[in-house]
Amino acid sequence: MTAYAEMSRQELLKEQELICQRFEKLRDQKLNLNMARGKPGKAQLDMVSEGLFNIFKTPRDYISDGIDCRNYGEMAGLPAARRLFAELLGCRMEQVFAAGNSSLQLMYDTISKAYTNGLLHSERPWCKEEHVKWLCPVPGYDRHFKITESFGFELVTVPMTENGPDMDAVEAAVRDPQVKGMWNVPKYSNPDGIVYSEETVRRIAALKPAAPDFLLMWDNAYCVHEFEGEFVPFPDILSECAKAGNPDMAFEFASTSKITLPGAGVACFACSQANMDHMKKLMSVQVISFDKMNQQRHVLFLKDKAHTLALMRRHAEILGPKFRCVTDALEKEITPLGIASWQRPKGGYFVSLNAMPGTARRTLDLCKAVGVTMTAAGATFPYGKDPQDSNIRIAPSLPPREELEIAVEVLCTCLRLSALEKILK
Ligand SMILES: Cc1ncc(COP(=O)(O)O)c(C=O)c1O
Repeated sequence: MTAYAEMSRQELLKEQELICQRFEKLRDQKLNLNMARGKPGKAQLDMVSEGLFNIFKTPRDYISDGIDCRNYGEMAGLPAARRLFAELLGCRMEQVFAAGNSSLQLMYDTISKAYTNGLLHSERPWCKEEHVKWLCPVPGYDRHFKITESFGFELVTVPMTENGPDMDAVEAAVRDPQVKGMWNVPKYSNPDGIVYSEETVRRIAALKPAAPDFLLMWDNAYCVHEFEGEFVPFPDILSECAKAGNPDMAFEFASTSKITLPGAGVACFACSQANMDHMKKLMSVQVISFDKMNQQRHVLFLKDKAHTLALMRRHAEILGPKFRCVTDALEKEITPLGIASWQRPKGGYFVSLNAMPGTARRTLDLCKAVGVTMTAAGATFPYGKDPQDSNIRIAPSLPPREELEIAVEVLCTCLRLSALEKILK
C-alpha cells in the first residue's frame, strides 16, 4: 500500500474507483450497526447481573454496619459504600458522598449548586456573576461540555497533550477571574484514553486561579478500567490539592456504571471535609437519602478494591479483543495510507481518531449511509464544533465481535473515500 500523499492523480482516481465499489457492496448489505456511545456489551451486563441481583440471601443482608438499608437515613450514603469508593479512589471515607445511579447527575448538581447558591469560597452565586468561563480540554466528553454550556458559561478550549491538558495554557487561563472551573477525566480520558502524568496532576493541584471559588471537576469515571495490562495507580487529587494549599478546589466523581451496570450502579463524589459540610447542607434540602439498597447490593457484590479489580479483569477479557479488533484493523488498513492517526489506549471506553482535516463529518455521513452509526462529528468539542473537522470518537464496546469487524471495515472504507474526495477536489 502506498501513502495517498505519494500517489499520482491517476493512481488516486483508480483507488477511488475501487473504494467506491467496496462502499457500494457494503451499502448493499443494509447494515444496522452502532459504535456511537460507550456502552458495555451484553456479555458484560450478563456477567455481573447474576451475582448482583441474587446477592440478598437473608434479611440480615439488608443491614449494613447496623443500618437498615431499607429505611430513610444516611444521606451521604452507607459507610460501607463510602469505604469502598474511598479505597478505589485512594481518599478517606469521610471525604466520600455515595449517592444514586449517575455521576453525571452529581456533576450537574455540583455546578447547579454553584450557580444557585455558590460554593464554599464564592463571593456570590454564579448566577450573579457577569460572565463565567470554563476550561474544556479538547477533545473531551460531550456531556461535560453540554452541562457547562447549559448554564450559559463560555467554553474555553485547552488542547490535550499525551500527558493531559496543556498546562502552560491552563496556568495562563486561570489568571482570568472569570474562569471558574475546568473539566478533567484524569485516567483514560474520554475520548483520547490519555492518562494524566503525575507532573500534570501536580501542576493542576498547584494552580493559583484568580477566582477564589475555582472548581476543579475531576471525573475519575475510568479509574479502574484497564482493558490491557495491570491496574495503573493514580494520585489522589484531594490530597494533592491539600498539599498544594488548595484543599477545597477539587470535586472528584466516580461511579460503578462501567463496573456493574450503567444507569443502575452507584455514583459518588469526593471532596474536602469543608466542602462536604457545605454540600450536605445544600443536599439535605433536596433528598432524604439515596438508594441504599443498591449501595448495599454493590458493597456485597464488589466487596473491596481487590475484588473490584478482579471483576475489571473479567471485563477486560471481553473488552480487550474488541479494542484490538479496531486498532489492528486501523493499523493494517489506514496507517500505510497516512490519512489518520489515533492513540492505542490501554483502558477506558474509546478510541479517538484524527482523520485528515476537513473529512470527519463527511466520513461519518458516509458511515451513516452504509448503516453504521458513530458519535456525531464535532461532539468531542465545545458547542459540537471541531475547528479542524478531524476528530472521530470510536466506541467499540457495544457491538459483538462479528459486527464490530464489519463496522470497522465500513469506517476504514469511509475514511479512505472521504480522504480521496478531499485530495482530488
Ligand atoms: C467521562 C465520563 N464521565 C461520566 C460518564 C457517565 O457516568 P454515569 O453513568 O456515572 O453518569 C461517562 C459515560 O460515558 C463518561 O465517559
